[in-house]
Amino acid sequence: METTFLQDIKARYNIVGRDEKLNVALDTALQVARTDLSVLIQGESGVGKEIIPRIIHDNSLRKTKKYIAINCGSIPEGTIDSELFGHEKGSYTGAIGEREGYFGAADGGTLFLDEVGELPLTTQARLLRVLETGEYLRVGSDTPRRTNVRIVAATNVDIPNAIREGRFREDLYYRLCTINIQMPALRDRGIDSVLLFKLFAMNTASKYHIPEPIRLSAEGEQTVMAYKWPGNIRQLKNVVEQMSILEKGMQITPEVLYRYGIVAGQGESYAISRIGKTSSEGGRHDWENEIKWLANAVMKLRSEVDELKKHIISEHTTPQTPAPLQLEGQSIMEVPTMPVVAQETVQPLYIPTASMSTTPRHQFDDIEEVKEVESLNLEELEKRNIIRALQQSHNRRRVAAQQLGISERTLYRKIKDYGLEE
Ligand SMILES: Nc1ncnc2c1ncn2[C@@H]1O[C@H](COP(=O)(O)OP(=O)(O)OP(=O)(O)O)[C@@H](O)[C@H]1O
Ligand SMILES: [Mg+2]
Repeated sequence: METTFLQDIKARYNIVGRDEKLNVALDTALQVARTDLSVLIQGESGVGKEIIPRIIHDNSLRKTKKYIAINCGSIPEGTIDSELFGHEKGSYTGAIGEREGYFGAADGGTLFLDEVGELPLTTQARLLRVLETGEYLRVGSDTPRRTNVRIVAATNVDIPNAIREGRFREDLYYRLCTINIQMPALRDRGIDSVLLFKLFAMNTASKYHIPEPIRLSAEGEQTVMAYKWPGNIRQLKNVVEQMSILEKGMQITPEVLYRYGIVAGQGESYAISRIGKTSSEGGRHDWENEIKWLANAVMKLRSEVDELKKHIISEHTTPQTPAPLQLEGQSIMEVPTMPVVAQETVQPLYIPTASMSTTPRHQFDDIEEVKEVESLNLEELEKRNIIRALQQSHNRRRVAAQQLGISERTLYRKIKDYGLEE
């Protein structure tokens, strides 16, 4: 049931949707707003978690005090304790002045810890202490400070799984989720996907002065509702923006949607494929095995390059005619899964051997070249895999990091190192 209050909240925060699960989430947020209980918001990437802490703060007795939102996943591990809890002057190299930290700055207000699942374990211990005692220590200080902060946290990580894997403290989890708010996935929200489609179509048309917003045909509506939207509302918004520009004024049919990868019944959910499901279910993509396979492939590639080195050395030390290199069809190519990366990876190995026979060279040049090729291959392999994960996750770095089995922080660094920033 939708109360007038709920309708007002939706209007005030531009929240579109009629789904009952969405209503329950908003209603819970409103009910707990006036308490000081910690809240944990869970839900897949792109479902709209970030509006909830704002609603809680604005409807709480703390609304005149500070609201500070922090993305725990984007703060480097080396400075996160100091950013959250502050530091004393000279407490570490580079700590020129003292720093108050967000827990001090938000005193009396609300602190939104987004992507809380990304917090390092040492920071989790500090967070647990402040949640339990209201006290914290600045980095480099042993004098406890008091703070009165209400914590709202959000995550798209499967925390029980992170607990099992030793990446998240169980005691902190239970302390954080005194109140648990579950934001529903778009695929489970029925007609809401169509309502949101219309909203984003209107917004984009007005933003770019397009006379007619795009509109869905009746079959198009069915397709939008039956697609699984792995990137949820964020993905829907991106797709509608693209179509609004490229299909100006068009009626959007299943055929048009198909060109944007929107097909009824399709749209693999990374969250589902990773959380609590086995790889054999529903033919979903098995990232875990793929990553294991990739690690294996890298190992094999290394041993093949070693073989190649030995071969070149023996070629230069024995005067007979060199035998052709037999890399094709070897182990790395025979692994049945993930053929794309494997083939691309093996390919560059042929380049130096081909050039060897045509160009006069110093005998050790080839060995140096193989070394180069070896590092090129491993780096290329990693780079291509990162590009692929980013493409498949529609540039959502958190999802890409999950696919690659690395932390988001590491992915950020690698994107920078490989110059893959947009
Ligand atoms: N009900 C809604 N009505 C309109 N727009 C919405 C609604 N919910 C979410 N959005 C929009 O969807 C996008 C994704 O929302 P948000 O950033 O809150 O996702 P999230 O759950 O925090 O995802 P992540 O876990 O990846 O950070 C935002 O652009 C947001 O404005
Ligand atoms: Mg978010």
